[in-house]
Amino acid sequence: MSRYIYGVDFGTSNSALAIYDRQTNHIVHSFIDASILHFPFPQKYDGEYMVGKEGLQRFLRNSMKGRLMRSIKSALPNASFTQTTIYQVDYKLEELVALMLQSLKQKADDFVGEKVTTAVFGRPVVFDEQPSRDALAQERLLKAAKIAGFEKVHFQFEPIAAAFTYERQLKHPELVLVADLGGGTSDFTLMQLNPQKINEVDRRSDMIAKGGVHIGGDDLDAEVMWRKLVRYFGYGLQYQSMNKTLEVPSHYFRRLCAWQDLNYFKSEKVRKELDDFFYATNYSSEFQRLITLVERNLGYPLLQSIENAKIALSSLPETTIDFHQAHIEIHQNINRQEFNQFVDKDIQHIRNYLDVFLEDAFVEAEDVDSVFLTGGSSLVPIVRDLFEESFGKDSIRSGDSFNSVAFGLAYSCVLY
Ligand SMILES: Nc1ncnc2c1ncn2[C@@H]1O[C@H](COP(=O)(O)OP(=O)(O)OP(=O)(O)O)[C@@H](O)[C@H]1O
Ligand SMILES: [Mg+2]
Repeated sequence: MSRYIYGVDFGTSNSALAIYDRQTNHIVHSFIDASILHFPFPQKYDGEYMVGKEGLQRFLRNSMKGRLMRSIKSALPNASFTQTTIYQVDYKLEELVALMLQSLKQKADDFVGEKVTTAVFGRPVVFDEQPSRDALAQERLLKAAKIAGFEKVHFQFEPIAAAFTYERQLKHPELVLVADLGGGTSDFTLMQLNPQKINEVDRRSDMIAKGGVHIGGDDLDAEVMWRKLVRYFGYGLQYQSMNKTLEVPSHYFRRLCAWQDLNYFKSEKVRKELDDFFYATNYSSEFQRLITLVERNLGYPLLQSIENAKIALSSLPETTIDFHQAHIEIHQNINRQEFNQFVDKDIQHIRNYLDVFLEDAFVEAEDVDSVFLTGGSSLVPIVRDLFEESFGKDSIRSGDSFNSVAFGLAYSCVLY
């Protein structure tokens, strides 16, 4: 048995790996990187790719040439996404995921000086509401882990992992609600935690409830895009056809809001449709921008500028969304109040889900000793307000928003 075991949190936006030393029962190191794949163009050799922040920087430096993939985790439950061809090389979805896992594994293997083949992988409580799609997502993640060189793979729910990390900070037993608010999902678990129990192998009776909704930081970005920017690209424009006034279909603009949908615009058919609408709208400057955005591969940097503004609004009352490329000039003020309005539907959805979650567990908000918030989206003020309103300001705890899950996955290895 190897001395080390890895906790691997493959996230929608960021992926982390924590190295657990079974001899000292400590985490000795961790690595984190953006869940991004970049295939440069031209390719120096077939299948050339770069991972994470390095890949993103190269893409931006190289004037957005090549392919950039983000939020790949969100595609895992999607049975119709089986494979994609990138510069003549076919990739199955699990192969793309494996490239990212391999990169983290390599860094960790180099650190410990051996090839570690056992890992505890995280998974959201709900990959998908449909059981068959949920099973497919986990199966694909398992395949990806195997391709990346893991032989023995255990799965643990992400918020349960975060709970184990929080447990290590405790002095006394507590009933804890863990909320892991990430890029793609918001996951919850209600657990009875006890620092005396951290090395026990069977914690099933302490796990009171778990659940999740498909709302994460990507959805908040999408709301901002939808409410603030799609009109720059032709949303709402009208055109004449056979003596009728019609509106340009909105589905193009919906797709513009999601990272995983941006490749949709690359097909020839869609390009042709955009050209037709450009003509039908009398060569509108809006459609010109949309065509430029597609031709110049600017969808990613555009969404990035929205994400940057969202992140700035976590610490500032107002900011600007700035995007200045290829004659597309966007300089839009946005304040926190406006942002809160845009995302209100998502916040209400989480709130309603949480009410039902507690009700189903027969737990009142007052019974919860503390709420441990983790995940990047837990830094959004309106998200924190939701928990403070429901559970009281004094109950809210938070730790490392980006590593708690990976650490807890590594700690989970005592269960296996
Ligand atoms: N300071 C911040 N304020 C608001 N949002 C933030 C901040 N920092 C990061 N985020 C958002 O947090 C999200 C990423 O969080 P995290 O890394 O926890 O997600 P993930 O683990 O990759 O996703 P998931 O767990 O859903 O698979 C992104 O949507 C990012 O924009
Ligand atoms: Mg996460």
